[in-house]
Amino acid sequence: MLNIAVLGSGRGSNFQAIAAAIKDGRIPNATVRVVISNNSAAGILEIARANGIAAVHMSDKQFATRHQFDDHLLASLGGHSVNFVLLAGYMKQVSSRIIDAYRNRIINIHPALLPKFGGKGMYGKHVHEAVIASREKVSGATVHIVDEEYDRGAIVLQKQIEVEPADTAETLAARVLQVEHEIYPEAVRMFASGEVMRPTLFHTMK
Ligand code: GRF
Repeated sequence: MLNIAVLGSGRGSNFQAIAAAIKDGRIPNATVRVVISNNSAAGILEIARANGIAAVHMSDKQFATRHQFDDHLLASLGGHSVNFVLLAGYMKQVSSRIIDAYRNRIINIHPALLPKFGGKGMYGKHVHEAVIASREKVSGATVHIVDEEYDRGAIVLQKQIEVEPADTAETLAARVLQVEHEIYPEAVRMFASGEVMRPTLFHTMK
């Protein structure tokens, strides 16, 4: 059974897609135990509350040191019996202590075809602006394992779409987001069903 924690900072549409997939039976053997956000006003916390899921505001700003914040985060994850962590629009770096405690059990979604268009500064509309500026023919979304190297962990699932000549960062972002909502629940299902046995598995969705 996957006991999931979702960490997010904003809107929460990926979490919503996953919660819906769990609710309607598309992901057996998984439950979201807690949603944690560094942003008290984040939509993701409201969605959690609306679904009867524990919603926790936790920011490193509330603690004197990063170590204390991580202690608190680990205690909260442990307290909710979490064994799997989803990053869904989480704008904070996850420290190596947490990554180590949940090795190969933390995944993230990125709105581009990694390893391209990842790393520092590549978030939100910057990603789609960079894709358009470099005249890419395709973009898409990637679910990957989170390790110490930003946006560089093993790829679990990827799906591509065409970049249209008339695309702006906004129109491309909207189409990529639809892909995210498709592949993130599917990736969670793959972990919950035991299909992902090792993080080196590479899978491309048709
Ligand atoms: C998504 O585009 C995701 O790829 C990126 O942050 C955004 C989060 O959106 N990491 P939402 O909060 O899930 O709506």
